[in-house]
Amino acid sequence: MSNAIIEARDVSFRYESGLSDAVSHLTLRIEAGEFVAILGRNGCGKSTLAKLMNALLLPTGGEISVNGLQAKTEDDCYEVRKSCGMVFQNPDNQIVTTIVEEDCAFGLENMGMEPALIRKRVDEALAAVGMSEYAHASPAMLSGGQKQRVAVAGVLAMRPKIIVFDESTAMLDPVGRRDVFALARQLNREEGITIVWITHFMEEAAQADRVVVMDGGRIAIEDSPRHVFSRMDRVLSLGLDVPEMMKLAARLRASGVRVPKDIMNVEEMAVALCQLRSKN
Ligand SMILES: Nc1ncnc2c1ncn2[C@@H]1O[C@H](COP(=O)(O)OP(=O)(O)OP(=O)(O)O)[C@@H](O)[C@H]1O
Ligand SMILES: [Mg+2]
Repeated sequence: MSNAIIEARDVSFRYESGLSDAVSHLTLRIEAGEFVAILGRNGCGKSTLAKLMNALLLPTGGEISVNGLQAKTEDDCYEVRKSCGMVFQNPDNQIVTTIVEEDCAFGLENMGMEPALIRKRVDEALAAVGMSEYAHASPAMLSGGQKQRVAVAGVLAMRPKIIVFDESTAMLDPVGRRDVFALARQLNREEGITIVWITHFMEEAAQADRVVVMDGGRIAIEDSPRHVFSRMDRVLSLGLDVPEMMKLAARLRASGVRVPKDIMNVEEMAVALCQLRSKN
């Protein structure tokens, strides 16, 4: 039954200069093919957890296995990084060359892959993110959303099983944000890539299979988005917000309009209001 692609058991991590654990006794399973959102207030340990998943950091307590491997040696770390790619917040920090396709090839070249295979992988990756026509462009000329898609292509070219997005939409305009989120969902659904989506946007988290809320380096809540967000007081007390439509539902209910309290998006609100109208 067990098909965990990421399994953290009692994992702790303390930075050398840290007075307390940034991640503390955290246990978490992520199944292959899941889309998991990770939420939590600033400094609660989300990025640290992301780096533990990617073997950029190694636990100071407990253990984590990623795609069946616990990173113990340099070689293991390298293997983990191949199976678990990362997309960061600022695409400018991830883009290293001056031509889009060279940027996508960078990781593969470092692996010493033969040029013909690199060519094939890069073409496929750029096509998958819808950036083929920009293969010869300079990343500097692209919008934030397009740069982020190139960053995703660079990760995809490595054929990862998991991609961790650490607030990868935070610096984008609404269009870029929607694009990059849609791309992650598509990679999850069509390619079966497991997605760990760290965000401060509740509307994004609402579309995940599962939401993990962190607080003080630990997991505070872990459930379906609907169950998590319907505990509105608890969610607010953890420094988060709930989707706009859920807030509207609460206000409507307070003024006597009997809509369900777990409304997550505009479509569900529209359906609920129409049903009320046809009843009256
Ligand atoms: N390189 C570092 N050295 C020392 N302490 C660090 C380092 N990076 C993070 N920390 C501390 O570890 C804790 C967790 O930080 P982390 O960056 O994982 O949080 P986060 O949830 O990603 O926050 P944010 O929402 O702001 O991105 C914080 O207290 C932070 O100050
Ligand atoms: Mg962070």
